[in-house]
Amino acid sequence: MSISSPTTTRVLNPQLENKIMSATEAAALIRSGDQIGMSGFTGSGYPKTVPIELAHRIADAHFHGQKFQVSVFTGASTGPELDGALAMAGGIHLRLPYQSDPETRKRINAGEMDYMDIHLSHVAQFVEYGFLGKMDVALIEVTAILEDGRVVPSSSIGNNKTWIDCAERIILEVNSWQPMALEGMHDIYYGLEPPPNRRPIPLVRPGDRIGTPYFKIPTEKIAGIVLTNSPDRNSPFKAPDEASKRIAGHILEFLSWEVKKGRMPKNLLPLQSGVGNIANAVLFGLEEGPFEGLTSYTEVIQDGMIRLLKSGKVTSASATAFSLSPAMLDEVNADMASYRERIVLRPQEISNNPGIIRRLGVIAMNGMIEADIYGNVNSTHVMGSRIQNGIGGSGDFARNGYLSIFMAPSSAKKGTISTIVPMVSHVDHTEHDVQVLVTENGLADLRGLSPKERAKLVIEKCASAEYKPLLQDYLSRSEQLSYGKHTPHLLTESLSWHSRYLRSGNMLPREEN
Ligand code: COA
Repeated sequence: MSISSPTTTRVLNPQLENKIMSATEAAALIRSGDQIGMSGFTGSGYPKTVPIELAHRIADAHFHGQKFQVSVFTGASTGPELDGALAMAGGIHLRLPYQSDPETRKRINAGEMDYMDIHLSHVAQFVEYGFLGKMDVALIEVTAILEDGRVVPSSSIGNNKTWIDCAERIILEVNSWQPMALEGMHDIYYGLEPPPNRRPIPLVRPGDRIGTPYFKIPTEKIAGIVLTNSPDRNSPFKAPDEASKRIAGHILEFLSWEVKKGRMPKNLLPLQSGVGNIANAVLFGLEEGPFEGLTSYTEVIQDGMIRLLKSGKVTSASATAFSLSPAMLDEVNADMASYRERIVLRPQEISNNPGIIRRLGVIAMNGMIEADIYGNVNSTHVMGSRIQNGIGGSGDFARNGYLSIFMAPSSAKKGTISTIVPMVSHVDHTEHDVQVLVTENGLADLRGLSPKERAKLVIEKCASAEYKPLLQDYLSRSEQLSYGKHTPHLLTESLSWHSRYLRSGNMLPREEN
C-alpha cells in the first residue's frame, strides 16, 4: 500500500470514485422505516458523519409533523455522533444489541425507544437466518478501498461482514483518520455457512488467522461513499480505585492457586476481560502479577490489555474491537504497525463464538450489577427494570468459558445498594453459568457446592460488612420457613431490598420512615 497521509483520498478503485458524495446526500438515501446495520463497537469504527446528517433530516421531518424513524443495529455501543445524535432527534424506533449512550439509555428507560438486548454472538446469525427482518441499509466505516475493490476495515469489525452481506444497499464512510497500519490486522472469516451446512471453525489458538484481512463488497451494492476524517471517541477509564485493586488481587491469588492445583497451565488459559472500569482494573493488576506468556481471546482491547501487550506479558490477543481511552488511543495509533502481528480483530460471531470459547478454555471475567446469594447474576438492569447497558458478550463467555468469574464492588452508590442481594432483580447469568464471584472483600469459589453451601460462602466472602448480618438473617430464616429447602427463599421478602431502595433511597432498613 502506498497510502500514508491521513488526508489522501483512500478510494483507489476507479469505478467507485463516482459514488463519492457528501454525508447529506448519503443520508438522503435512507428512508423512514429502514433497518440499518451500522458499524461500531464501543467508541471504535462507527460512522461519524452520515448519522448526524440523518439526525438532522429526522429532526426536520418531525418539525414538519412527519413521521421518520429507523431501526439501528450495530456491533455494540457506539459514540455520541451515532447513538447520541439519533436518540436526541427521537429517530430510533428499535435499537439492538448493546448500548451505553446516556441519551439512548434515558429514552429506553422512559419507554420512548424499543431496545432488544441480545447475546453479541447471536446477532449476525439472527439476521442471516431472517429472524430480525430485512436489512435495508449497511452504513459502515472503513479505512480504505483498494484498487481491486477490497476494503480495509477500521478499528472495529463487529457485525460489519453480515451487514455488508445482507443489506440491500451499502453506504461506506472512508475515514482517513484511521491509521493505514490497520491493514493486515483483521481476519474476516467467510466460511460460516448456515445449518445444516455449518462446519467446524478452524481456529485452535487465539492468534490464528483463518480468513482474509479485507471485506469483500459487491461494488453494485455500494450506493454511496462518504469521505471523513474523524476520530474514534471512547470515554476515559476511571483510575483503578482501592476496591478494584483488591478485586484484581483476589483474582490473581485465585488463578495462582488454580495453577498450583494443576488445573491450569503456568501461562493460564486465554483471558477474556469484559467492558467497564473494574474489568480494566483487573488487567492492570495482571501487569504486576506473576504470569508470563499470556494470551487473550476477548471482545474488546482495553487500555489494560495494551499495557500487557507492551510489557510482553500477553503475547497475542484476539478481539472484535479496540476500546481505548483517548490517551491510549493516540499512543496505539502512532505505533499501530507494531501491534499488527499480535492483535487480531475478527467478526463478533467469531470473537464471541461459544464453540471456540469452549474449545480454547477461556477464562471469562466480567463485571456485574448484582449477584444473589445462590450465584445468579444481573449484568444489565438496575432495580430490575432500568437498563444500564446490555448483556453484551458476557453470556457468550460466561456459559462457555473454562471458568466464569463475575466481579463488582460489594456495594454501589455510597453503600446505599448492596451488590450481593437475597434474589437478583433481573437474571442474565443463572447460577449454572457462574463459578466464581468476587468483590473487594473476597472471592467465593462456587464450584461443586450445593445452593445452601454457595449462599453461606457468598455471604461470608463477598458481602459488605453492613449487609452481611442482614443476608445471614435472611438465609437462616429462609432455611427454616422456605416452601422448599433446596434453594431456600422467602418470596414475600426476596426482592424487598430493592423495593426498600426505591421507597427510601437505601437498601438498609434503618433509613426508612
Ligand atoms: N445498583 C445500581 N447501580 C449500580 C449497581 C447496582 N447494583 N452496580 C453498579 N451500579 C452503577 C455504578 O454506580 C456506576 O454508576 P455511575 O456510572 O453513575 O457511576 C455504573 O453502574 C457502572 O458501575 P462501575 O462500578 O463503574 O462498573 P463497570 O464500569 O465495571 O460496569 C457493568 C459494570 C455491569 C455496568 C458493566 O460491566 C456492563 O455493562 N456489563 C454488561 C456487559 C458485559 O459484561 N460485557 C462484557 C462482555 S465481553
